[in-house]
Amino acid sequence: MQKNRQLCIGLSLATTWLAGNGWRRPDSRAEEICLTDFYVDYAKKAEAARLDFLFRPDALFLKPDMLDQSPGLAGLDPTLLLATLARETSRIGLVTTASTTFNHPYHVARALQSLHWISRGRAGWNIVTALDGHENFGLDAMPGADARYDRAMEFTQVVCDLWRSYPKQARVVDRQSGRYVDRSLIQPIDHQGPCFRVKGPLNIPETDFGRIPFLQAGASDRGRDFAARVADAIFAATPDPDAGRELVSDIRRRVRGHGRDPHSVKVLPGLNLFLGRTRSEAQALYRDTHARQNLERKYAYIEEALGVDVRGMAPGQRLIPALLPEPDRPVRSRTHAALLRRLVIREQPTVAELLDRPEVIGSSHWLVVGTPEDAVDSILQRFNTGAADGFVALPSGSDASLHLFLDEVIPRLVELGVFRTDYSGTTFADHLGIPAGETRSRAGV
Ligand SMILES: Cc1cc2nc3c(=O)[nH]c(=O)nc-3n(C[C@H](O)[C@H](O)[C@H](O)COP(=O)(O)O)c2cc1C
Repeated sequence: MQKNRQLCIGLSLATTWLAGNGWRRPDSRAEEICLTDFYVDYAKKAEAARLDFLFRPDALFLKPDMLDQSPGLAGLDPTLLLATLARETSRIGLVTTASTTFNHPYHVARALQSLHWISRGRAGWNIVTALDGHENFGLDAMPGADARYDRAMEFTQVVCDLWRSYPKQARVVDRQSGRYVDRSLIQPIDHQGPCFRVKGPLNIPETDFGRIPFLQAGASDRGRDFAARVADAIFAATPDPDAGRELVSDIRRRVRGHGRDPHSVKVLPGLNLFLGRTRSEAQALYRDTHARQNLERKYAYIEEALGVDVRGMAPGQRLIPALLPEPDRPVRSRTHAALLRRLVIREQPTVAELLDRPEVIGSSHWLVVGTPEDAVDSILQRFNTGAADGFVALPSGSDASLHLFLDEVIPRLVELGVFRTDYSGTTFADHLGIPAGETRSRAGV
């Protein structure tokens, strides 16, 4: 156990509190989600609470039938949004999402380096291999998960090489001699790989603010190995503490295997928080939020991820492991499919129970429905038993739930000595405890 271990806490700006019926509340400001003012108040409040980072997941496709109920991820480009929030805040980390499947590394290297300059060292990159969207990029089908991870590894390598191609030492800016840069230090990267050919150098210099931390999402065997090589933190889906402990111990083992400090990669599960002043208020919030669920969408999800059609089954019928097909079928997300399969094997739920589980309706995230004190207990339980190093808060149900999280849960964690009273550094890397001046090694990119 590390001494004085502190939680690492991010706040998702994916407007999770507008999901389901949340946006229908009179105070939801749902009309404003493409205006930056909507996010500024949350960003400032999160910074006042000394959170480690703001987090903006993203997807590069739109399924109009998903929009009939709530806004989902449709909205502002995450890096542009965070660049605006950089001007409104001064300390909190700003983690954008960029897919390695549908972008080009030169663009991503430039955009992230720009965000790092604009925010004076607070950029972070959530590296995703994406789940959908191939039709928007001229592809006939979604590349297979392993091919996406091969590309992700090469992509990340190219991004890091591009950042190094115009190092900060090259910026001389000597007015006297008229020398702007040391040209000998700015070198092409001449990358020739299976997915990319990139000459370089990058057209934006390295900053003075240290390195850009990487988050990663995707926990299949390949996803875990990728994270263990390159990530500083993992955005994880862990519906119960056992899933969290398994992931944490496996990641520590893999990180050590890549010659890194096992504690240098933080496991940060998403935490769905339906908070109320009383438990019954929180339960009502949870029920109201989910009151209009689309049953067919749930059936379709179970069929895709589990390979079992439950439409014709009685609500009381139990799913038993014998009903499950072999686990190696291709699925959209191996991470989510494995968690759903694991639920059936461990608990053999009835169809009715399954339809209400976070593995089906909550992206397999950890769920707290209760008071701020209940949330604190659940967080401490996971933190103290090695099931998480922190979390990404996904406040749910209402704006009030979000405020209870920032106004009551966080101060209590501070009182208990597991969260900071103030920032001790100015960059996102500082907040994560990454030593100043640490650079990425070539092995880990
Ligand atoms: C918790 C979690 C969050 C994710 N968030 C995103 C996201 O914001 N955008 C995206 O395109 N893909 C996202 N993904 C998809 C992953 O990047 C990855 O493509 C997918 O999980 C398949 O990888 P796997 O085989 O390791 O499961 C997420 C996955 C997980 C598990």
